[in-house]
Amino acid sequence: MSSKRFLTGITPSGTPHLGNYVGAIRPSVQASLRTDVESFYFLADYHALIKIDEPSRIQRSTLEIAASWLAAGLDPEHVTFYRQSDIPEIPELTWLLTCVTSKGLLNRAHAYKAAVDQNTAAQQEPDADVNAGLFMYPVLMAADILMFNAHQVPVGRDQVQHIEMARDIAQRFNHLYGEHFTVPEAAIEDSVATLPGLDGRKMSKSYDNHIPLFAPREDLRKLIAGILTDSRAPGEPKETEGSALFQIYQAFASAEETFALRQAYAAGIAWADAKQVLFERIDRELAPMREHYTALMADPGKMEEILLAGAKKARKLSTPFTADLRRVVGLRDLRTQVSSKAAKTSKTAKPLFKQYRESDSKFYFKLLDVDGRLLLQSTGFDSPKDAGQAIGLLRTQGGAALPGLIDKLQPHNDVDSKDIIASLQLMIDAD
Ligand code: TRP
Repeated sequence: MSSKRFLTGITPSGTPHLGNYVGAIRPSVQASLRTDVESFYFLADYHALIKIDEPSRIQRSTLEIAASWLAAGLDPEHVTFYRQSDIPEIPELTWLLTCVTSKGLLNRAHAYKAAVDQNTAAQQEPDADVNAGLFMYPVLMAADILMFNAHQVPVGRDQVQHIEMARDIAQRFNHLYGEHFTVPEAAIEDSVATLPGLDGRKMSKSYDNHIPLFAPREDLRKLIAGILTDSRAPGEPKETEGSALFQIYQAFASAEETFALRQAYAAGIAWADAKQVLFERIDRELAPMREHYTALMADPGKMEEILLAGAKKARKLSTPFTADLRRVVGLRDLRTQVSSKAAKTSKTAKPLFKQYRESDSKFYFKLLDVDGRLLLQSTGFDSPKDAGQAIGLLRTQGGAALPGLIDKLQPHNDVDSKDIIASLQLMIDAD
C-alpha cells in the first residue's frame, strides 16, 4: 500500500442536480485523475435503505447517479467504482465492527440524536419511528471505509462525526486484535462551492429550488428563466452581490468570463439577456456530458456491467481481507488449531517496535506482539531520538526498564504485564 487511498460514498436517494455537480461530482472527478492516489467511489445503496422504502426510487437513483459520474468523466478503469451492495463482505465486516462498537458511541451520533430530540420535543417516545438502521448507520459507514483501508475520506462537514466514529471503531478493533485497519482521516471539503438554487437559498431537493444536472436543453433554459432576480429594468445597473444568477455563472465560467458579466451587470444588462448568457454557458459545459448520460441511461445493461466490473475489482481486496479478519476474531477452520502453533514457532515471528509521527508533530512508538496485538503505546516525544532512546532501554533491559518509563507509556489496562515482559524478552533473545 504505497499510494494514498481516497474513498467516498454517494447515497442513491435522488436525481443529481447542478449543486451536486459543482459541489461534489466535478471536484471528485478532477481529484480522481490524480495518479498519486488510489480512488474508491461507491454507491451507498445499503445506506439508502435507511431512509427510502420505495424500491424503484433506489434503483432509478443508482442508475442516474452512476451514469452522472461516468458522464462527468469518472474513469472506471482508473478508479474503483462500485455499488456497496455488490460487496457482501461489507455487511459481514459491519457485524464484526458492531461487536467492538459501544452502544454509547452510537447514542451520540448527530443523526440519531436529532431524531430523538425531535420525538422528545413532540412528546413522543424517544425512539418513535427510528429504525435500527439509522442507529447503526455509523458502523456501516465505518465498514465501507475500513474495508479498503482508506487513508482519506473526502466528505462535507456534516459527515465528520461519522469519520471520527470510524476512527474510534478502527482503533478499538486494532487494540483488541492487532493492527489490521488504517485509521482514516476526514478530508473536509470546505472550499467546495455551495450553489444557490432558483430562489437564492442553497440549491437542494428539499427546497424544491434545484436544477436537475441533465435536464434536457429546453428544460434547462426554462428553469434558468425562473431564477429569482430583482425588479431592475433593462439599462439599470445591477448588483452582482447576492445575485443567484451571478453566483451560478461564476461556478461555471472562467475568471475572464465572470469579469465580463460583472461589467455587463454594471452596464445594465437586461435580466432576460443575463439568463441567456448563463444558459449558454452551462449548456456549453453540460451538453457533451448530457449526451453521454442519455446514452448510459438508455443502456442499463452497460451500466450494470460497469458496476459489476468495479465490484470484481473491489472484491479482489475485500474477499481476502475479510477472510483474514474472520480468522483474526476467531471464526476459523477448526483444523487450523493444531497447526497454528507450529506455524507460529516456525515463522520465527518477532514482536515489533513501530515508530511514527502523529498530527500533533510528536514522535511515538508502540510495541506489537507476534500476532500484531498492541502491547505498549508511548506518549508523545519531542524528538525521534528521545523515542529511540526509550525503545533502546526496553530492548536491552526488557521488563526491568518499564518502571523507569512509566511516565512515557500510556496505561495498558487490557494487557497483562506478563505478556509485555515476555515479548521484550523474546526480542532480547532474538538479538
Ligand atoms: N453517509 C454519506 C453521505 O450521506 C455517504 C456514505 C456512505 C459515505 N458510506 C460512506 C461517505 C463512506 C464516505 C465514506 O453523504
